[in-house]
Amino acid sequence: MLKLDRRPGEPPLDLGSIPWLGHALEFGKDAASFLTRMKEKHGDIFTVLVGGRYVTVLLDPHSYDTVVWDLRTRLDFHPYAIFLMERIFDLQLPNFNPSEEKARMKPTLMHKDLQALTEAMYTNLRTVLLGDSTEGGSGWQEKGLLEFSYSSLLSAGYLTLYGVEASPRTHESQALDRDHSADVFRTFRQLDLMLPKLARGSLSVGDKDHACSVKSRLWKLLSPAGLASRADRSSWLESYLRHLEEMGVSEDMQARALVLQLWATQGNMGPTAFWLLLFLLKNPEALDAVHAELKRIVWQAEKPVLQMTALPQKILDSMPVLDSVLNETLRLTAAPFITREVMADLALPMADRREFSLRRGDRLLLFPFLSPQKDPEIYTEPEVFKYNRFLNPDGSEKKDFYKDGKRLKNYNMPWGAGHNQCLGKSYAINSIKQFVVLLLTHFDLELVSEDTEVPEFDLSRYGFGLMQPEEDVPIRYRTRL
Ligand code: HEM
Repeated sequence: MLKLDRRPGEPPLDLGSIPWLGHALEFGKDAASFLTRMKEKHGDIFTVLVGGRYVTVLLDPHSYDTVVWDLRTRLDFHPYAIFLMERIFDLQLPNFNPSEEKARMKPTLMHKDLQALTEAMYTNLRTVLLGDSTEGGSGWQEKGLLEFSYSSLLSAGYLTLYGVEASPRTHESQALDRDHSADVFRTFRQLDLMLPKLARGSLSVGDKDHACSVKSRLWKLLSPAGLASRADRSSWLESYLRHLEEMGVSEDMQARALVLQLWATQGNMGPTAFWLLLFLLKNPEALDAVHAELKRIVWQAEKPVLQMTALPQKILDSMPVLDSVLNETLRLTAAPFITREVMADLALPMADRREFSLRRGDRLLLFPFLSPQKDPEIYTEPEVFKYNRFLNPDGSEKKDFYKDGKRLKNYNMPWGAGHNQCLGKSYAINSIKQFVVLLLTHFDLELVSEDTEVPEFDLSRYGFGLMQPEEDVPIRYRTRL
């Protein structure tokens, strides 16, 4: 399809200087800088050529709702997801019906099953964090903060969704849980580090071999046969496996699907906790405010946290300061692409009454990281972490943010929005809060060096969810006696 013959009402087109590739290199290298430049040149809607694809980028947050709630027959989330499924995870599901899969998954992650998941996560976080008090003795231990946060949350998250060694648990079974989930994390992390290159098809020959061997190892670790003997498996896993079997998916393909799900469910919580803890460690006033809230809500609760087998939802829902810290962390570090495939020629109405024509076969991309999340018109000093940005003076959650004098519905979009908003949002929020509570209750935690700066982003990760740092941050921690 030749784009040079522009039709009336189409967004400005920028082809870049390289035929077919267009802007692919700049886009892959640092999408945020590239899109900022394009926004300055063309405004808040434009079309760019990226590796043979025409991508229309929409950066007006007042207009996002039309896209995320549009009919799937016009704008569909799934074709791009299916492309990534094949490209990264070698997964093909011939009878794949995303709507049915979603309908099955939804009740197992939300509403009534949320409580069971949250309780299991708390138990597993305790196993992972507090299980073996003999391991490090009572002295200080040093580690990278990303490694510490990511491994703790992924290990506990894996045990929660994919099951544990034995039920009821014993000291021995918990030790096995720690070893096995640490193995899953280490292997997963090798794949995670290669993800941007895998998605862009830009791995070197040597890296390709490495990616193959890491994937094979993960498929073995998560094979349905291996998982069959695990105890306390989540209703999410039971229901997902039944769904795969009903579709007639082979055991090999099922293992690949389970690896994809490990990434989709566990790839963002650890990096979120990393940034959150780092911002707290770098902002003593914020850390004091969180401590004061925990003192009020958790440590002085009728039953002290040390004796609780779970943190009740009522307690988790009464932490506006920690909520604000989490929202501010996500505002600064969550940078997913919200992508929709244009399924038919259509007119896209903007909030300011302009209308743009989109062509069937093009891709539509929202990048809330640039606006609303980093928009100076919405957030003063948008680069700065302000722990109370999402708090009103009376301590309640602040929800009113404005652009062009109009109140915004979508002012922070780490979870996406509309039809495809994250199904695990409540579970993820509960899990991260439980992790922070356990950590601040049971551990002393500090930066190895006070002068440590907040590291730069690994710029290749724009679009994949949470940003990751270019390098890890050394911390020391010890169990509080
Ligand atoms: C901090 C943690 C997390 C973040 C920031 C996050 C973010 C997101 C985003 C941005 C989307 C895509 C929305 C779109 O394209 O419109 C998404 C989808 C999804 N997330 Fe999460 N997520 C997190 C954790 C989780 C967890 C823990 C689970 C499950 C246990 C989960 C399950 C899902 C599912 C199933 C979808 C697909 C929804 C659909 O098909 O419509 N997520 N998430």
